[in-house]
Amino acid sequence: MATGKKTLDRALSRAGACSRAEAARAITAGRVAVNGRVVRQPETWVDPVRDRLTLDGAPVCAIGKLVFRLHKPVGYVTTAADERDRATVYDLLPRELPWLGPVGRLDRDTSGLLLFTNDSDLAHAITDPASHLPKTYVATCQGSIAATARQALADGVTLPDGRTAPARVALLAQDAHTTTLELTLTEGRNRQVRRMVEAVGSNVLHLVRTRIGPLPLGDEPLGSGRLLRAEEVAALRAAVSRAAGRRC
Ligand code: URA
Repeated sequence: MATGKKTLDRALSRAGACSRAEAARAITAGRVAVNGRVVRQPETWVDPVRDRLTLDGAPVCAIGKLVFRLHKPVGYVTTAADERDRATVYDLLPRELPWLGPVGRLDRDTSGLLLFTNDSDLAHAITDPASHLPKTYVATCQGSIAATARQALADGVTLPDGRTAPARVALLAQDAHTTTLELTLTEGRNRQVRRMVEAVGSNVLHLVRTRIGPLPLGDEPLGSGRLLRAEEVAALRAAVSRAAGRRC
């Protein structure tokens, strides 16, 4: 197979037409043609540069690689279609955007910076624990978390899916009822902050992701976002390769 060829479902999702799963469904349903002929096998190899792809008769043109940043509010699930019909982060994206996939996830009860992209290599590099790209969270936790427990969070705690990697933990505020911590993690396990805090005997009351690598949450209003500028994408790419290089 020549370099540059892709399976038809991947070519459609890379072009921003839809997700790969949606592409597979559209192809099987006979809505996609390659050089004027309907193709019903998602795994058919195509050359996205030379072959003419159409979806419902409209040309699918390759678009450039885009990264969108969203200030996610609480109450939205990070998925394209929720089986329980809850509000999803896609309800917040501008209609004119091509299809972009979420870069990792934020829980429904977590707010903060969430990225979307059609660059699957970049998305993988950002979320892959082997890249060690730091992500920072501010967690308001129940009760007072002692210095020894904060040190345990920094050193690594044992969760059912293994010990957590060393993290940066800073105490931002504390009183008799709550402790506010800033945690910087280089992994991205499911509900990791909440589970780490539970492992030291507390509970997260409120969680915000405030930074991904070089990108701070910024001052976009909750529920809105924008495409990253070229220099922001370049900084993100550089941070991913620097972070990966540091630990290899
Ligand atoms: N850790 C969590 O517990 N939840 C998130 O959404 C992200 C990180």
